[in-house]
Amino acid sequence: MHRRITDRLVIATHNPGKLAEMRELLAPYGIEAVSAGELGLGEPEETGNDFRSNAAIKAIAAARATKLPSFADDSGIVVEALNGAPGILSARWAGPNKDFAAAMAQIERLLQERGATTPDKRRAHFVSALCVAWPDDHREEVEARVDGTLIWPPRGTAGFGYDPMFLPDGHTRTFGEMTSIEKHGLPPLGLGLSHRARAFRKLAEICLEPR
Ligand code: IMP
Repeated sequence: MHRRITDRLVIATHNPGKLAEMRELLAPYGIEAVSAGELGLGEPEETGNDFRSNAAIKAIAAARATKLPSFADDSGIVVEALNGAPGILSARWAGPNKDFAAAMAQIERLLQERGATTPDKRRAHFVSALCVAWPDDHREEVEARVDGTLIWPPRGTAGFGYDPMFLPDGHTRTFGEMTSIEKHGLPPLGLGLSHRARAFRKLAEICLEPR
């Protein structure tokens, strides 16, 4: 049985961007989102082997510490020609200075080394895993992806991370050239295109009721 989220939800992130995005997504459901940062919670080590387990580690730690239902996400980009790298290490590839220009250049260098010069050899997808954990250890988990091709040079200054290099299937503009409403916004405002928007819709279907 799926369990509904009611009233309050701890957002287990210290990233202000993710928090703002979640608050926006949860607002139509009348859910008050409190951040782990505001509650002074620490950040657990992400020791999982996949997106799903890392999202669960973060959500479970926050639920146990706060005794409230807690939400966490884990995401990244999976490059097929690189055997799935950077994957769960997507943030780490940018280093302590969060240098995503360097991380994208690194991906491009590795693709060139492998002779991946045509679009069919440059396939990639973003993944978003979401987990809501309750203090009694009940969990709701969803995962979604968006498929596309990596282009070079990167295009666009919107978005973050690997957006300027990622051309979603069926589109002529990269995520870096789309507004955040186009990329993340749910219909009718946006296309609900991103991995996070798609995963959130799945979660809403099983755990949320519009108010
Ligand atoms: P985490 O989910 O905070 O562990 O980090 C995910 C990392 O994946 C981010 O730092 C970005 O590098 C990358 N990433 C995840 N989602 C996106 C996206 O929508 N656009 C661009 N990069 C993303």
